[in-house]
Amino acid sequence: MKLKVGVIGLGYWGPNFVRNFIRYERTQLVWVCDISEKALKKTCQGYPYLKSTQNYHDLLKDNSLDLIIITTPPNSHYIIAKKALEAKKHVIVAKPLALSSKGANDLLKLANENNLLLHTDLTYLYTAAVRTIKNLIDKGAVGNPLYYDSIRTNLGLIQQDVNVIWDLAIHDLSIIDYWFNLKPEKVFAVASKHNENSKTEEMAHISVTYQNHFIAHIHVSWLSPVKIRTTLVGGTNKMVYFDDLQPDEKIKIYDKGVKIASDSITPFKPAYRSGNIITPTLSQEEALFLEIRDTTNQIMRKSINYLNAQLSIRILKILEACDKSIKTGHSTAIR
Ligand SMILES: NC(=O)c1ccc[n+]([C@@H]2O[C@H](COP(=O)([O-])OP(=O)(O)OC[C@H]3O[C@@H](n4cnc5c(N)ncnc54)[C@H](O)[C@@H]3O)[C@@H](O)[C@H]2O)c1
Repeated sequence: MKLKVGVIGLGYWGPNFVRNFIRYERTQLVWVCDISEKALKKTCQGYPYLKSTQNYHDLLKDNSLDLIIITTPPNSHYIIAKKALEAKKHVIVAKPLALSSKGANDLLKLANENNLLLHTDLTYLYTAAVRTIKNLIDKGAVGNPLYYDSIRTNLGLIQQDVNVIWDLAIHDLSIIDYWFNLKPEKVFAVASKHNENSKTEEMAHISVTYQNHFIAHIHVSWLSPVKIRTTLVGGTNKMVYFDDLQPDEKIKIYDKGVKIASDSITPFKPAYRSGNIITPTLSQEEALFLEIRDTTNQIMRKSINYLNAQLSIRILKILEACDKSIKTGHSTAIR
């Protein structure tokens, strides 16, 4: 039997879910919903069998519907997810899961009590590049992790209800959690608004310190003339360069490093190691499709886990600490 699915929010991101659910043989896309008639019309073109509505409560009332995807703006995630879980629907929510870790905790409790899926779409965690680097780290090929240094910038899409950290750095913070599984300790964030009518900060620099002296620096911006998606990872054995915008050769693994010897005769003696560079071949499968396959399998096999929701809550706590740091101008402990 196919899992019956509905998608709420058909702006920029929602149609990617629509396309992948139509493509997947184990799901049947039944409902699409958007308050905009234009968005509904555009999505339903070519799929006359889809039920469409401007009121998401119509999906909640359909007892045959199993799974709801929420790809509306962030300020509506919590309330729609809560109502969907109360209507006994499995839920996938676009990032961020909610606008507070408390709200996300409430959702997790509700999902857990009813044995329903609660999954935040953190698409990057399903990309071949991120999974390949995760395997390298897990195998110990990178050595002890030292740092994560990334730039994630583009022009727009400026959001109203979350700042650029909540929109873009959320990807980096979830990748770091997934790759290294280290406890974040404190954050220092600097952010600025450059349009007087902006409701949220458009560019930011964030430093997060983790246990074991691991440090992350993340630069995010909606005001960049060029799109950049680069990440450097330093380890005691290898260094990794990840450029997500490269069609091929997204990952380069460098056998490079530096050791500084110090003794009484030569008090400062750096020794540089410069070995081979390896570029792994990556699968071309679309990450969102893999995410849909994984989450729908959890529902169909009755093997729902809450690892993703727990990760989302850990990330929300870092995002909340970023906001506090911006406000106070001080580094903020992450609890
Ligand atoms: N994983 C990713 O890489 C990725 C990429 C882009 C966006 N997103 C996330 O997806 C979500 C949506 O972003 P977007 O860029 O598509 O936004 P968008 O503004 O383009 O689209 C949102 C849509 O939701 C509709 N909507 C708003 N309130 C509604 C309601 N109550 N009921 C029904 N429809 C409603 C709007 O009319 C609009 O069409 C955000 O949370 C964003 O963070 C994720």
